[in-house]
Formats: sequence, C-alpha cells, structure tokens
Amino acid sequence: MTQMEQNRKFMHCPSFRDGMKTSDQSQGVEPPAFGKPIVGELFVLPLFENLAENVSYASLLDARRSKRSYSDKPMTQAELAFMLWSTQGIQSFRDKVATFRTVPSGGARHPFETYITVKNVEGLPPGLYHYLPTENLGEKKVTIERLGDLPDYDKTITEMVAGQAWAAKAPVVLFYTCIPYKSEWRYAEMSHRVVLIDLGHVGQNAMLSAVALGLGSCCMAAFDQAACDRVIGLDSLNEYTVYGVSVGTPTE
Ligand SMILES: Cc1cc2nc3c(=O)[nH]c(=O)nc-3n(C[C@H](O)[C@H](O)[C@H](O)COP(=O)(O)O)c2cc1C
Repeated sequence: MTQMEQNRKFMHCPSFRDGMKTSDQSQGVEPPAFGKPIVGELFVLPLFENLAENVSYASLLDARRSKRSYSDKPMTQAELAFMLWSTQGIQSFRDKVATFRTVPSGGARHPFETYITVKNVEGLPPGLYHYLPTENLGEKKVTIERLGDLPDYDKTITEMVAGQAWAAKAPVVLFYTCIPYKSEWRYAEMSHRVVLIDLGHVGQNAMLSAVALGLGSCCMAAFDQAACDRVIGLDSLNEYTVYGVSVGTPTE
C-alpha cells in the first residue's frame, strides 16, 4: 500500500465500539487534567459582552470569507477575548471529567490548547500568549498568560506558516495545538480522526466570530510543523500544532 493509500485508510473507522473497549477510560484510568500548569504573567482581558450584539446569523454566513490582507488597525483586547472565548471558552463541567465549551468535541474531550502570537493588540505587549480557559470559570472573563517575546516577529510567523507572509501582517494569529492523550483516554486508536473533526468546529467558530466583530480571518493548514512546535515550545508528540487562524481588519 502506498503512503497515500495508508493515509486514506486513516479516515476509516472499522469498529468504533470494540476500539473503545481498549481505551484508558474503559480500564478505569483517571482522566487527564483540563489545563496545563500556568508559567507566564497573567493578563485578564476586558469583558466582551457588548460586542457582536446586533448581527444576524444569516449575515454572518453570507459574509464569511477567507481574508488574507489586513490593515494596520490594532485589535482590541475585548475582541481578542471574544475570539478566544468563542473558540474554546468553557461554559460548564460534566462530572469533573469533561468540559462543555462553545464548540462541540467528540466525548467532550476538547483536546486543544490555544496559543496567540500578538503583533498589534491595544495595550498588550507583543509576543507569545496562551489562553487559560479554566481561569475565572463561570464568568465570561478571558485570562491569557504571556509566554515570552517573539523577536523578529514577521520572519518568525512567516516561517511558522510555511512562507505565507501575509499572515504576519495580521494583529494576531491563533495557533491551535492538540494534546492527543486527552482524546485517546476515551477513544484510543480512533481518537485521531475525531480530533480532526473537532478541529473543523473550532475553525468555523473562529471565522464566524471574526465576521461578527467586523474582522476577517483565514484558517491555515499549511504551516511548518517543526517551526510552530519549536516557537510555541512543544515536544511534537504529546502536544503539537494542528491549525492556525490569522485575524485582523480586512483591507478588501
Ligand atoms: C482546513 C483548511 C485549511 C486551510 N489552509 C489554508 C492555508 O494554509 N492558506 C490559505 O491561504 N488558506 C487556507 N485555507 C482557506 C481556504 O483556501 C478557503 O477556505 C477556500 O479557498 C474557500 O474560500 P472561503 O473560505 O473564502 O470560502 C484553509 C481552509 C481550511 C478549511
């Protein structure tokens, strides 16, 4: 079988029910933690509740289009908060095992982390940030931690997104990473297909949320795995980059 054919088979799901019987969950193993240890300086972003109040759902669908050209206009912290909440915000817990969020996820596993490369957000030092959805639970208050500087921002982002230099002009790029064990705990070897399906919901919420804010976005699967994982600080096995979404004020 060629590699291409093997990859096609990856999309198959021969016996989901039997496969689940082999999972750690079915063996009584404790579920993995919801979040990662906090290591950076915390920033609590302003509430976003008055944003995107008067936009019809149909108009969002009509206006959603990938935008790859951005003005120099900074993003506000409330807009960034809205983008983060609407793609990964935690609304409630189920039995201390799962979280319910603004996106669906198979088995409510939610195997993603959100990292943000900030170029131009009002009042926020540029650099690399990480969203902490488990902070301020029960409130729509978004907390992020600052993980460090991003020297030579444009060059670094362009390398991360495999030469797509336009993305470095965006005030922020959201990088979604996957912690596969979060899904494997429940779905064992079937996890990886589920995780990719989960990811599509995150991307769609990101795009519709950007439109709701009068912003534009572009989802990116063309990224450099090694560069992204190196810049974010991931081991590429237990956590690795799976998606990028640039967001900014479109010029078109
Ligand atoms: C999974 C996925 C990966 C994508 N990767 C890229 C990318 O790396 N670079 C890019 O310019 N556009 C990327 N796009 C955007 C598509 O090119 C775009 O959705 C498509 O051309 C249709 O245009 P529309 O989004 O305006 O409807 C991606 C979209 C999806 C859903």
